[in-house]
Parts: sequence; structure tokens; C-alpha cells
Amino acid sequence: MNQGIDILPLTLDRVGLAIAGHAILDDVSATIPRGTRTLILGPNGAGKSTLLRICHGLLAPTAGQVRWAAGNGRPRAQAMVFQRPVMLRRSAIANVAYALDLAGVRGDARTTRARAALRRVGLDGIAGRSARVLSGGEQQRLALARAWALEPSILFLDEPTASLDPTAARNVEATVQAIHDAGTKIVMTTHNLAMARRFADDILLIHEGRLVEHGSAAAFFARPATPIGRAFIEGELS
Ligand SMILES: Nc1ncnc2c1ncn2[C@@H]1O[C@H](COP(=O)(O)OP(=O)(O)OP(=O)(O)O)[C@@H](O)[C@H]1O
Ligand SMILES: [Mg+2]
Repeated sequence: MNQGIDILPLTLDRVGLAIAGHAILDDVSATIPRGTRTLILGPNGAGKSTLLRICHGLLAPTAGQVRWAAGNGRPRAQAMVFQRPVMLRRSAIANVAYALDLAGVRGDARTTRARAALRRVGLDGIAGRSARVLSGGEQQRLALARAWALEPSILFLDEPTASLDPTAARNVEATVQAIHDAGTKIVMTTHNLAMARRFADDILLIHEGRLVEHGSAAAFFARPATPIGRAFIEGELS
């Protein structure tokens, strides 16, 4: 596995989403490359989560197209982690095992992979604890373990650190980095500039449903191409 080599690039071709006549996303065209950590940036309400859901296939655009290089439809090997993960009322390990079961992994392989995933995120000590009583940071790491166990080619993450304290957030960030290092393409939304500076290889900046900047993070942070990009970097867009 090599960060989406089998399925990417993902191409957004004039993607739009209108709900009740209101444009939530408008005319978004972009290529999401393999290999990199792609961050979708923008202020609250810009349309980041909506764009991520469209990429993952949870929402269908009302205009334009989403195309995978794989050609024959959506790849199986994709996963998504949400800001507030939803856990089953079962043990931590049972939550991971359930996801593997849905992916067709059974028997000993399922247990072995669930345990390995918990170990990789540092939760092996609490595998048997009820998932619902875990702290926010632990639940987010469990959500990452659940996604990582599937060994996806691409992982979509929607503000995975937004409701966490700085220590828990750094822990989640390190885990996302480890998932990337192990061969998974990362596409993540955030409105956290500091995290984007640390983490992004390439960025898409969304503002009021439109794509206003798209390119390498180094170029964006050194020299944003638009007034909106400049304002975002200076913290003037809320
Ligand atoms: N199903 C829907 N019906 C109506 N409006 C919606 C729907 N989904 C999203 N919106 C609106 O679309 C806009 C973009 O929402 P979205 O959640 O994508 O923003 P975001 O960039 O992820 O914001 P945040 O940083 O707060 O998470 C918001 O104004 C939101 O209220
Ligand atoms: Mg959002």
C-alpha cells in the first residue's frame, strides 16, 4: 500500500451542492493527489465537512462529478473519522472488531487485527473497557484504530482534534501521522492554522462554498495567492 497509489488522484470536477436553492458548495474543481497529507481549510461554515462527505461518498453532489482514478467506482479501502465519533455500546475492542466484520474479516484474523490496531494507537491496556466511558481523546484514538484496522488506501478525517485538549490533540495528530507513514493517504479538514502549518503537504482553502486556494502548503503559507488566503493566514477570517 502506498498512500492511495491504487485509487488516486481523486478528481473533483465542478462539484456543487445546493440545498433548497442555497449553494453550500459551488463549482469546486480540484485534484487530490496520492501520497500527500491534504488539508481542507476554511472558517466555520465554509463547507469543509460537506466537501469531505462528498469525497467519501456520504453525500451526492447536485452538480459536477467526483472521479476516482481506479475507474470502476468507489474504492473499498476508504475510511472516515468524524469530529465526534459514534461508538457502539460495547468494549473498545468489540468496536474495532465490528468494523472489521463489516469489511468481511472474520475469525482469528479479526481478533489479531483489532488487537494490533489498539496497540498502535496506545489503547491495548483498555481493550476490554466499554467504549462509551472512554474520554474524548481516547474515543478519538479508538475511532482512528477502527479506521486503521481496515488498512484503508485513503482516510478522510473531519476535524479529528477539534474538541480535544492540546495534549490529546497532539496525540491524535501523531497517530494520524503514523497512519500516513504506514501507507494511507490523508485528507483532513481543519480550521486550526497551527495544525495546518505543522501537518499539511497540500491544501484546499474553502470560503463560502468556493475553493479559493489549492496547492502546496509551503507556497500557500509563504505567499497566499488571494486576499481571502491572506486574511485566513492572518487569522482574520472567523
Ligand atoms: N443538510 C443541510 N441543509 C442545509 N444547510 C446545510 C446542510 N449541511 C450543511 N449546511 C450548511 O452549509 C454550510 C457549510 O456547512 P459545513 O458543515 O460543510 O461547514 P464547515 O466548513 O465544515 O464548518 P465547521 O468549521 O463549523 O465544521 C453551513 O452554512 C451549513 O449550515
Ligand atoms: Mg465541519
